Amino acid sequence: MDAEMIKRKATIINKAQLAPDIYRMSFETDLCKEAKPGQFVMVYPPDGAKLLGRPVCIATADEEKLDIVFRVIGKGTKEIAACNAGDVLFIEGPLGNGYPMGEDTVRDKSLVLLGGGLGAPSLLFLAKKLAEKDSQYRAYKSITAILGYRDRSLNHFLAEDFEKLGIKTIIATDDGSEGIHGNVIDAVKSKEIKADIICACGPMPMLSAVKKYAAENKAEAYISLEERMACGVGVCLGCVTKTVNKDLHSHVNNARVCTEGPVFNAIDVDI
Ligand SMILES: Cc1cc2nc3c(=O)[nH]c(=O)nc-3n(C[C@H](O)[C@H](O)[C@H](O)COP(=O)(O)OP(=O)(O)OC[C@H]3O[C@@H](n4cnc5c(N)ncnc54)[C@H](O)[C@@H]3O)c2cc1C
Ligand code: FES
Repeated sequence: MDAEMIKRKATIINKAQLAPDIYRMSFETDLCKEAKPGQFVMVYPPDGAKLLGRPVCIATADEEKLDIVFRVIGKGTKEIAACNAGDVLFIEGPLGNGYPMGEDTVRDKSLVLLGGGLGAPSLLFLAKKLAEKDSQYRAYKSITAILGYRDRSLNHFLAEDFEKLGIKTIIATDDGSEGIHGNVIDAVKSKEIKADIICACGPMPMLSAVKKYAAENKAEAYISLEERMACGVGVCLGCVTKTVNKDLHSHVNNARVCTEGPVFNAIDVDI
């Protein structure tokens, strides 16, 4: 697919600061209608001639708008964060596979959403879909969201959005300044949360811990990887992750996170 063909103009309709260096931005764009939970968009900083797009998860989308939530890390995210309502950016997407949806095997299963730091936005859209009135995911026996933060200064950003959807939401902080003291796996253990299926997004050490926990507890785990990316559309191989099995086509233990992911069954990736 020609990457240029799906780059489209999007108007910022709202910007809010959720915590120090963390912003939520809403865009008016046709892409909102195609978006699925777990997918991402490439957002081009306004000085797009100089910078590649920056991959950011779709935090939520409906018939009219698409939201992202991001942390200012370097030049690209700083430029994006400096934009305001009324500004027009180029965005590309929706990209990637998303969380598996539509199976009818969820009856009597407990689903746990694990979001570490900036992993929470990826799960919010999933939570929104799960909470919709006609969602077959309502068949889950229980849905619990556990959101991990460095400390209370992050204002447990997005936690209230999960709660408003009627999803039981537990907060954990690394330093114990709010909620459970520890990471999201510590919270699963200390609250004795039953997890048949886990959907998780967060830093790589957390995702490795989720993979290990799922294997030890016979849970299915779908993890969203946030590797560094360049093209975002499968061309540059800048985002490959090691897989357990060889790819049938290339005969190497690699998968492109941007196209084969970002969501993988944890048993398939070597992390
Ligand atoms: C599929 C996907 C979804 C993502 N979703 C979100 C999201 O919803 N919210 C959010 O805040 N961020 C998200 N990210 C991370 C985000 O893309 C990076 O923070 C951003 O590209 C940094 O760009 P920059 O120009 O500000 O920083 P740069 O100037 O490009 O980099 C600054 C520093 O950060 C490091 N860095 C950059 N990108 C990454 C990365 N992906 N992993 C580890 N280190 C990195 C660089 O090595 C460098 O040291 C996502 C990444 C991927 C791949
Ligand atoms: S970012 Fe280029 S192949 Fe994935």
